[in-house]
Amino acid sequence: MTRFPGHEGWDAYSRKEDDLNLPIRSDEHETTNTKMDPGFGDATPATRFELPPLPFEPDALAPHISPRTLSFHYEKHHKGYLDKLHAAIEGTPRAKMDVEEIIRTADGAVFNSAAQVWNHSFYWHSLSPKGGGQPDAPLRDALAAAFGSVDAFRRAFAEAALGEFGSGWAWLVLDDEERMRVISSSDAENPLQSGQTPLLTLDVWEHAYYLDYQNERNRYVENFLDHLINWEFLRANLEKARGVEARPTADA
Ligand SMILES: [Fe+2]
Repeated sequence: MTRFPGHEGWDAYSRKEDDLNLPIRSDEHETTNTKMDPGFGDATPATRFELPPLPFEPDALAPHISPRTLSFHYEKHHKGYLDKLHAAIEGTPRAKMDVEEIIRTADGAVFNSAAQVWNHSFYWHSLSPKGGGQPDAPLRDALAAAFGSVDAFRRAFAEAALGEFGSGWAWLVLDDEERMRVISSSDAENPLQSGQTPLLTLDVWEHAYYLDYQNERNRYVENFLDHLINWEFLRANLEKARGVEARPTADA
């Protein structure tokens, strides 16, 4: 697994993007020597205060998500939220909480920073260079049971991603009755707040796609569903949430 930054190809991307002087908010340009956490890499949500390594190479998602977008999104936006969270909780009782506990108990700026840290960590793992296509049989059956078919799930997810009016997220969640549902959230909102279990997410803030797609959020969403959606991450999260195994079967 590649650890970012530090990958020899990553500095070149970073220097190139810094030279572009694109209009990223100044408060998200903060940089610190944030400790890298090598432990995030399975279906476990981010609960630590370190920036998790990205689970793919800088150019692994191209052409659907470019290294340029990835550089800004990860190094500026995600890291910026983490830096803000550090600054807000340092020396307070929240410094001893994990990110999920802060999400469930905080509001205002502290909540926004904590939720955006968690949401982005979860988002990176919802993407895969080997994603897209059709899920294996057990997951296909689970989606069909919940939505009617995999295509119906895709339509529902796309509708949620495109229907979110401003900045936000599209989610596949397990609700408190263990039913899979597609929802959207605004700004930093996270399904954990309402007792739902996130299974998959797509960032639909403009910073996630604008450099590659400009105003065409629909193409970003279509390419996510066609080429990047990480069925394995979804399956692992579903197994964990339901406490059962949905391993691929012989006909998968
Ligand atoms: Fe984002």
